[in-house]
Amino acid sequence: MQFQNTQAFAQMLDQQDELRSFRDQFIMPVIDGKQQIYFLGNSLGLQPKRTAGYLQQVLNKWANYGVEGFFMGEEPWLQYHDKLVQPLSTIVGALPHEVVAMNQLTVNLHLLLVSFYQPTQKRNKIICEARAFPSDQYMLETHVKYCGFDPNEVIIEVAPRAGEHNIRHEDILQAIQQHKDELALVMWGGLNYYTGKVFDMAAITKAAQAVGAKVGFDLAHAAGNIPLQLHNWNVDFAAWCSYKYMNSGPGGIGGAYIHERYHNDDSLHRFAGWWGYDTATRFLMQKGFKANRSAEGWQLSTPSALLYAAHQAALDIFMEAGIDRLQTKRRLLNNWLWFLLDELNGLQTEPVVDFITPRTEAERGSQVSMLMLQQGKQVFDALARAGVIVDWREPNVIRLAPVPLYNTFEEVWQFTNILRQILQLQHA
Ligand SMILES: Cc1ncc(COP(=O)(O)O)c(C=O)c1O
Repeated sequence: MQFQNTQAFAQMLDQQDELRSFRDQFIMPVIDGKQQIYFLGNSLGLQPKRTAGYLQQVLNKWANYGVEGFFMGEEPWLQYHDKLVQPLSTIVGALPHEVVAMNQLTVNLHLLLVSFYQPTQKRNKIICEARAFPSDQYMLETHVKYCGFDPNEVIIEVAPRAGEHNIRHEDILQAIQQHKDELALVMWGGLNYYTGKVFDMAAITKAAQAVGAKVGFDLAHAAGNIPLQLHNWNVDFAAWCSYKYMNSGPGGIGGAYIHERYHNDDSLHRFAGWWGYDTATRFLMQKGFKANRSAEGWQLSTPSALLYAAHQAALDIFMEAGIDRLQTKRRLLNNWLWFLLDELNGLQTEPVVDFITPRTEAERGSQVSMLMLQQGKQVFDALARAGVIVDWREPNVIRLAPVPLYNTFEEVWQFTNILRQILQLQHA
């Protein structure tokens, strides 16, 4: 499509947008009476209007039935999880029994490493991104120590080359080859939280498994954002949070994927709890752990019906919008943003902003990261004053992510216009 940098063109794109009515399903933030341009679906997705009703149903059932709410009424809490697996598996590209909604992201990564990082004296190395999200770094560091190894010896970080911002795919493959005889695990982010780069998960999986290593992905910034095919890519395990692109609320319930080939594998270590026990006989309260033969077998504790309800409210909207339509709009919205940013970029005589998210379509999702070469915090504050909600990530990046469920093409146009004014860039 031939874009034009006008407000009328943006409005025309909105009129043609099949998903435009979905914005009305969300509560848009208003600060001091001014509706904000909310571009932070990559951090905390907005609240669906229906979430309160779904939560209220759980509260009503709790009020009316007490503990019997687990077994009674239209939607007994014991069966609540069954309704989440279909939409979740569609979003991450897995079989329904390969996904489970449980815990939080970092907790799930630890639990999955118990099963998928079983280091030996010969095979104990982990390859990961340099400057991965801090929680992942702390998770790996402490997990490796717990296993009796030295993080400085065992963890191999792949970094961008000097002068570059993004890690090159060939450098990941090269690291896998270099450490092939000692490699136990590749633990990688599907989409880097700082730069917005999408990694080739299928190729990383293939390369790591070819040398005998396991592969897991942190999908915090990928799930609900970009198309995923975890099962077809043969990924061993993955985990994500639901509060970003999946709009399930602050601290919403996390999720995990475990390839079905492991569901009956009793040689894997696990940290178990009663909720992962064989569902049919869980309440017989017998001695000796017997795992549920699906991803649900990795659960430990009684899940929160309230968090389930908030998750379901958001997932129902995803299914109503449809993954294919969401992906089509996500690409168009992002291409529109890049078209406008490229124009703005061309006006910079003295560089202030460097857009560090890769330009190739396969390597980006909704997020764009602006590396601020000067006056970063001032630009960020000016955006906030103008009613644009984006975020600041130390040391010097402004991140933004217009999302297809509730952002408009006109908001993207307004944002670039505001940014141009703040940067005082003028057409010649
Ligand atoms: C890439 C990534 N990994 C891990 C986390 C931590 O998630 P949680 O606090 O849900 O454990 C985040 C949180 O934003 C993240 O962005």
